[in-house]
Amino acid sequence: MALRAALNSAVRQSRASTNARCLGTTASKQSSWWDGVEMGPPDPILGVTEAFKRDTNPSKINLGVGAYRDDEGKPFVLSSVRKAEEILQGQKLDKEYLGITGLPDFAKGAAKLALGEDSVVISEGRNVTTQTISGTGSLRVGGSFLNKFFPNNKVIYLPSPSWGNHTPIFKHSGLDVASYRYYDKATCGFDAAGAMDDISKIPERSIIIFHACAHNPTGVDPKQEHWKEMSQLVKDRNLLPFFDMAYQGFASGSLEKDAWAVRYFADQGHTFLLSQSFAKNMGLYGERVGAFTVVCSTPEEAKRVESQIKILIRPMYSNPPINGARIASTILNTPDLYSLWLDELRLMSGRIISMREQLVANLKSEGSTHNWQHITDQIGMFCFTGLKPEQVERMTKEFSVYLTKDGRISVAGVSSKNNAYLAHAMHEVTK
Ligand SMILES: Cc1ncc(COP(=O)(O)O)c(C=O)c1O
Repeated sequence: MALRAALNSAVRQSRASTNARCLGTTASKQSSWWDGVEMGPPDPILGVTEAFKRDTNPSKINLGVGAYRDDEGKPFVLSSVRKAEEILQGQKLDKEYLGITGLPDFAKGAAKLALGEDSVVISEGRNVTTQTISGTGSLRVGGSFLNKFFPNNKVIYLPSPSWGNHTPIFKHSGLDVASYRYYDKATCGFDAAGAMDDISKIPERSIIIFHACAHNPTGVDPKQEHWKEMSQLVKDRNLLPFFDMAYQGFASGSLEKDAWAVRYFADQGHTFLLSQSFAKNMGLYGERVGAFTVVCSTPEEAKRVESQIKILIRPMYSNPPINGARIASTILNTPDLYSLWLDELRLMSGRIISMREQLVANLKSEGSTHNWQHITDQIGMFCFTGLKPEQVERMTKEFSVYLTKDGRISVAGVSSKNNAYLAHAMHEVTK
């Protein structure tokens, strides 16, 4: 027995070394397929979170993350979402595929939410609304649609600055990206004169991106009179507006107020594209619930556009995920849950607004003599503090407060517990 085992082992070893030689020969003949792949830079925002995780300071604060936190700094699942999940669980629904454009009741609800109950666009059947993979997926489908069908120069104009993913999304869709002035560093507010001047010079028949509300990253929104002026300029230059609405209801707590610009443009007879995300306003981040709408000139045009959107989506991801859309649709279409959701929108946006107010008050108590009014003038999840890169570096190194280099903080990460500490750090680096 022992002899046979020794023989078997010798045979195994010999086979193994022959295999290794063969593999070695093959490997030396052919280098890896991926030798030419260079190391890419880390994502700037996720990099902030990684550095935060490594920090052992108990007072550390992560203000890089773009997700709502409650006053304990914990992720927040809305009660309206929990209740919708219970209803859905009781229904024991199947897990069949959705159609290419998603859950019809969700898409109808999303369009109504954005354009309004009494929208003429909807009653005339001029909108094509399709479920998408959250806001990012919606912008990406929109980018592909523009690349294939926009009849003119395929240049899309973004506000400067804009959400960091806009440029990659649209470049990835094959569009060229340009910008118009938006943020005024001197006032930490809207550069109305610069924006109007730039928009009035955009080549005719181009595409322009507008953040419908709660501009990311600055938190700076145009006033209604500015939107009116921009609507006129868009008409004069014959531009195609593309609204990115990732924060409806989350900015002011009012769905109507936050959708004002979109509805105004619809009332003014513009045709436009619209992206919606339900990540923030329903806290459905990882469920990836969004919608893409094309407001067309006629119902007949809408039918043609819809047929082409289906053709674009099919090879991209075939059809969207079902779970989150069912949750959102249940909330949108169940009166009790809808009114609970409205309360929760007011709660989330209210907490953010009050954190802004407390921060300004705490900065004053620290003895800061700077004008911090922009903190309360700005709206939504993000605040462009005006801190310079070297001040941001000190915030992180000396106080373990993590934010992006451009001085943007996520107010969602500020709580009544860490507010005074944040104000102290901001005062120390700016005094
Ligand atoms: C301006 C803007 N657009 C779109 C999105 C899309 O987010 P999501 O794909 O998570 O819906 C975000 C998220 O941060 C955003 O800030």
